[in-house]
Amino acid sequence: MIQPRSVAVGGAHPYTISIGPGLLDDTALLAGTLRGDAFVISDDQVAPLYLQRVVEALSRARPGGRIGHWVLPAGEASKTLARFGEAIAAIAEAGLRRDATVYALGGGVVGDLAGFAAAAWMRGIDCVQLPTTLLAMVDSSVGGKTAVDLPQGKNLVGAFHPPRAVLADTGALRTLPPRELRAGLAEVVKYGAIVDAPFLDWLEANADALLAGDDAALAEAIARSCAHKAAIVERDPYEHGDRALLNFGHTFGHAIETGQGYGGLNHGEAVAVGMVQAARLSERLGLAPAADTARLRALLQRFGLPVSPPPGLDADALLAHMRLDKKAQSGGLRFIVWDGAGRARVLAGVPEATVRAVLAGD
Ligand SMILES: NC(=O)c1ccc[n+]([C@@H]2O[C@H](COP(=O)([O-])OP(=O)(O)OC[C@H]3O[C@@H](n4cnc5c(N)ncnc54)[C@H](O)[C@@H]3O)[C@@H](O)[C@H]2O)c1
Repeated sequence: MIQPRSVAVGGAHPYTISIGPGLLDDTALLAGTLRGDAFVISDDQVAPLYLQRVVEALSRARPGGRIGHWVLPAGEASKTLARFGEAIAAIAEAGLRRDATVYALGGGVVGDLAGFAAAAWMRGIDCVQLPTTLLAMVDSSVGGKTAVDLPQGKNLVGAFHPPRAVLADTGALRTLPPRELRAGLAEVVKYGAIVDAPFLDWLEANADALLAGDDAALAEAIARSCAHKAAIVERDPYEHGDRALLNFGHTFGHAIETGQGYGGLNHGEAVAVGMVQAARLSERLGLAPAADTARLRALLQRFGLPVSPPPGLDADALLAHMRLDKKAQSGGLRFIVWDGAGRARVLAGVPEATVRAVLAGD
């Protein structure tokens, strides 16, 4: 039996991340997150699997309380202003008051959109994240970033809205398609890459167990990742400094996602490619040894992740997306680079020619 774990996130709006099997049914935990009405937002792949369980547990947590729900089509293509508008319309229809809580049941797409809806409704009501993908458990559900995409770029419209609680039910990972599990492992690797080189050793040693869905290995990977994310967002909740390190691989990754119209590589896969590109950029700038790039590439490949961009993406278009990326500033392209495994930092003013060379595979 795996014991539930918890990670505390401090700062102005402290909350707890609970990690363990069976949390979606945990009436006592859910009761602690509920003050008024509950409204669950999910997608049409997750809802048939878990919505009823959550609604029943919330009913036990608050007998007689009103529990509404709204379901959107699964996938990144749903993370739009139009769907956000539909979510707000459903919330308005349900008549949610200030003491209501929105429950985001699903992966990062649901978490980001539902979190943004909770941030905007009546200028902000409580949101509890119930992440069901590995990626959402280790990254998107923690830290309070919420957003939707525009055709011009990822996550361009959103708000900082820390959750009231995060309940990561590791049992939900059993139904997760293997491709999505691997996508989450990309974000797990990221923590090793940016701040915790010994975690990379651990991931190398436990790769088979993680890929096989071993509960104890997954719980350890999630708890360690969340502890890193918690420490970083506590220090820098609004991304004025260190928090940008969490975007290692994301400038390249977001450009790829936007360039392919949110339909090819998923987010974790694009980040895997992006991290290798960021390592290659660091290598090219003379900051880090080639051996570290090779090690990162090998670990991502072991997790079945892509490590080079899909063919047919135009370098000019990718650079245009990078210029619009939120990490870009008026002074030129800004990247998260590393000085080797576990030592990432922000670097501004990176010459476009160097980025082009990396994109060209030189
Ligand atoms: N807010 C943040 O800080 C942050 C951080 C990282 C990523 N993100 C965002 O997260 C999104 C990606 O999240 P994702 O990878 O979770 O994608 P996702 O939400 O699209 O989920 C992936 C797929 O898995 C399905 N699914 C989810 N849980 C399942 C389960 N337990 N069983 C079966 N199927 C399940 C979903 O229906 C979907 O089809 C991106 O939009 C990205 O920008 C946000």
